[in-house]
Amino acid sequence: MLSTRGHKYAALDLAAGYTKIRGDLYDKFKHPNDLVCLTQAENFLMQKEVAAFVKKKCISSIDASVLSYHEGPFGSKRLRQAMSGFVNLHFSPATPTLAEYFSFVSGVTALNEVLALCLTEENDGLLMGMPIYGSFASDLPTKSDCRLLYAPFGDIDQFGLEAVERYERTLQQAERKGTKIKGLVITNPHNPLGRCYSRKSLKGIMRFCSKHNIHLISDEVYAMSVYYSDGRHPGFTSVLSIDPSGIIDHSLVHVLYGMSKDFAAAGLRLGCLVSKNAELTKAVRSLARFHCASPLADAIATTILEDKAFHIPFLQKSRKALFEHQIIATDALNRAGIPFSARPNAGFFLWIDLSNCLRGNGWEAEMHMQQELFKVGLEMSTGLAYHNERPGWFRFIFSVNRDMLKEGLRRLICFYQKYSIDIA
Ligand SMILES: Cc1ncc(COP(=O)(O)O)c(C=O)c1O
Repeated sequence: MLSTRGHKYAALDLAAGYTKIRGDLYDKFKHPNDLVCLTQAENFLMQKEVAAFVKKKCISSIDASVLSYHEGPFGSKRLRQAMSGFVNLHFSPATPTLAEYFSFVSGVTALNEVLALCLTEENDGLLMGMPIYGSFASDLPTKSDCRLLYAPFGDIDQFGLEAVERYERTLQQAERKGTKIKGLVITNPHNPLGRCYSRKSLKGIMRFCSKHNIHLISDEVYAMSVYYSDGRHPGFTSVLSIDPSGIIDHSLVHVLYGMSKDFAAAGLRLGCLVSKNAELTKAVRSLARFHCASPLADAIATTILEDKAFHIPFLQKSRKALFEHQIIATDALNRAGIPFSARPNAGFFLWIDLSNCLRGNGWEAEMHMQQELFKVGLEMSTGLAYHNERPGWFRFIFSVNRDMLKEGLRRLICFYQKYSIDIA
C-alpha cells in the first residue's frame, strides 16, 4: 500500500515521457523509417565535442576525492568559484558575483522543486506567462503543492513592457480568488519562443515584482545559446546585469543556470541557483542533501568552466551550428507556408503554428494531431504541454543531427500539405 503522496506521484507518472514505447529512432542508414523524435531540448550538435573533452581533459585529471562525499552536496567551492567566474565573464553582472551566491544541485529541474518548497506555502501561487517551459507544471508544484498562474498576452508582445500589465491582471485575479502570489518565473532566453527580453522589459518586470514584494526567478539556462542578434532581435541580458538599486530589493532576484543546455551536457545533472538572499541560499543548501550535485559531475564541470581556451570557442561553434540549423528549418517552414512564432534568435527550437491542420476544436483536436504526427513518424511537444493560449502549436527542435532535421522537416511539410485546411 502506498501513502496518499505515493498514489499521487504514481498517478502523475512523470516518467511516462521516458517509458513510452517508441521503437528505434530515425537513423538515415539503419532506421530510415523510424521515429524522428523532437521532444528533448538538448544540443545534440555539440555533445560529441563535449564528450571528447571530458574523456581527454576531465577524466584524466580526476582523483579519488570525487568518490567521496567531498565538500558536501551543493557544489564544491572550486566549482562555485569557476561558475561565478564564468557568470562574471559572460553575464555582465552589475556587481561581480561571488562563489557564496552559488548553490548547485542535480539540475535546474531539482532546483525548481527546491525553490517552490522554499518560497511558497501550499496553495500559494507562482506567476508565469503563456506559453512557457512545460515542465514547470510538474517541477514546481509536485512536492510543494503551490499553484501556477499563467498570464495570457493575447495580441500584445510578451517581451515588451506592456506585458507587465498582463502579469498585473493575472495577479489581481488570483489574489481576488484567495491565491497569494509569491513569485514570477520567466525563462530568458525564452523556452519555447526562442527570444530574449530587452533590458527595458526586464526592468519593468523587476519593478512589478518589487511593487508586489514577490520573488523574480529568472531561468537563464539558454543564456549562451543566442545565435543571432540585431536591433530587432535583442541579445541576452541577464537580470544580474541590471543594478537593482532603486528598482527591487536584491534579495528577491534569483537566477537559474546549469550545464544542460549551453554546454550540451544534460547528463551531468548540474544546475545552480545564483542568489544574494542568504536565507534562501541556506534553505536550498539544506535541501541539496536530497539532490546532491555529484562530485564526479562537479569535477567535470569545473574543468570545463575553468578552461576558457576550450569553452569560449566551444560556445561560439555551438551558436554557429545552431544558427545554421535554425536557417535550414526556417527556410523550409517559410517555403512550405508553415507559420512560426516571430523573431526567434536563441535556444534550440521554433514554436510552430499547425492550427491550420486541426480537425475539430480545442485541445482534444491538438492531442489528436499529435497522435497523427506520431503515425507519420514525428514527435513534438504540444502547445497544451507548454500552456499555449491557443491549440495547434508545437515545439520544433532543430538542434538534432542534420539528417534528422531534414527528415523531420520533410515529414512535417508532407503532413502540413495533407492536412492544412487552406491547401486541401
Ligand atoms: C527553461 C528550462 N529550464 C530548465 C530545464 C531543465 O534543466 P536541467 O537539465 O538542468 O534539469 C530545461 C530543460 O529543457 C529548460 O528548458
